[in-house]
Amino acid sequence: MPITGAARIAGIMGWPVSHSRSPALHGFWLAEYGIDGAYVPLAVPPDRLEQALRALPALGFRGCNLTIPHKQAALKIMDRVDPFARSIGAMNTVVVTPDGELEGSNTDVFGFRENLREQAPAWRASAGPAVVLGAGGGARAVIAALIAAGVGEIRLVNRSPDHAEALAGDLATPETRITVHPWQQRAEVLAGGGILVNTTSLGMDKEPPLDLDLRALPESAVVVDIVYVPLETGLLAAARRRGNPCVDGLGMLLHQGRPGFAAWFGVAPEVTPALRQAMLATLAGSR
Ligand SMILES: NC(=O)c1ccc[n+]([C@@H]2O[C@H](COP(=O)([O-])OP(=O)(O)OC[C@H]3O[C@@H](n4cnc5c(N)ncnc54)[C@H](OP(=O)(O)O)[C@@H]3O)[C@@H](O)[C@H]2O)c1
Repeated sequence: MPITGAARIAGIMGWPVSHSRSPALHGFWLAEYGIDGAYVPLAVPPDRLEQALRALPALGFRGCNLTIPHKQAALKIMDRVDPFARSIGAMNTVVVTPDGELEGSNTDVFGFRENLREQAPAWRASAGPAVVLGAGGGARAVIAALIAAGVGEIRLVNRSPDHAEALAGDLATPETRITVHPWQQRAEVLAGGGILVNTTSLGMDKEPPLDLDLRALPESAVVVDIVYVPLETGLLAAARRRGNPCVDGLGMLLHQGRPGFAAWFGVAPEVTPALRQAMLATLAGSR
């Protein structure tokens, strides 16, 4: 769609940035809603991040997304940061306010929550303990979302115990206990679980499979994989065969883009089957 001199501009900063799916996501919505706007890839090296972010108001940008390696470093450059980004220690969205200030937020938490709400509407935090596999960046957003949803106990299983301990120390609250378990016990901790979330890269294209015996997991438990290439991971296929409600990772990726788009372009966008199809086509054969 052609843009005019009054177009609203946003983009994504990364280094490199060429792998990012965000231009395709926001480009779809700009066309869908007929908006006079553009969303552009911005290749910004780490040593120029502050300069680039501070230039956003001067250039008239409405804001931007941030991808690797800028998600942590950008926190220190913001004028204001939302509580999720602060507790997780990473942010992915910048909004330039009308007075030229930079507001940082983490919309992966929103993305996980909205995807769960859409694909497993019957799930409740009271269903039982959550089991989370992995303690990386994705796990932090997932656990923040589970805590915000009111889950009382989170069983965290990770290959490197020190990463899991650090995460538990950063995110546990008086209302939500996070217990840390060795990777070898990943099958046993499924007993009585209300939701299982894989946040490791295992099962992703070109990565080893996730080796997990699901027998101890109740058949009512929701099984979520935040890996989205492939869409149907080995974990989801196995869970579906035994009747567990399943949630794939693509929706988290799509929903996390909604708050930024709404703030920059003034329309609250929707995640539709047509959007899922368009994004799946861009993911085919990639990781
Ligand atoms: N759907 C979405 O919107 C969304 C959002 C974020 C991430 N993701 C996906 O989630 C996955 C993880 O991303 P991330 O950013 O969290 O990565 P990350 O920060 O690098 O964390 C990777 C996690 O996987 C674990 N892991 C890696 N190899 C393993 C192995 N061989 N055995 C056991 N554990 C292993 C790591 O354990 P150690 O701590 O022991 O290294 C760590 O817990 C990726 O596939 C990513 O695409 C999806």
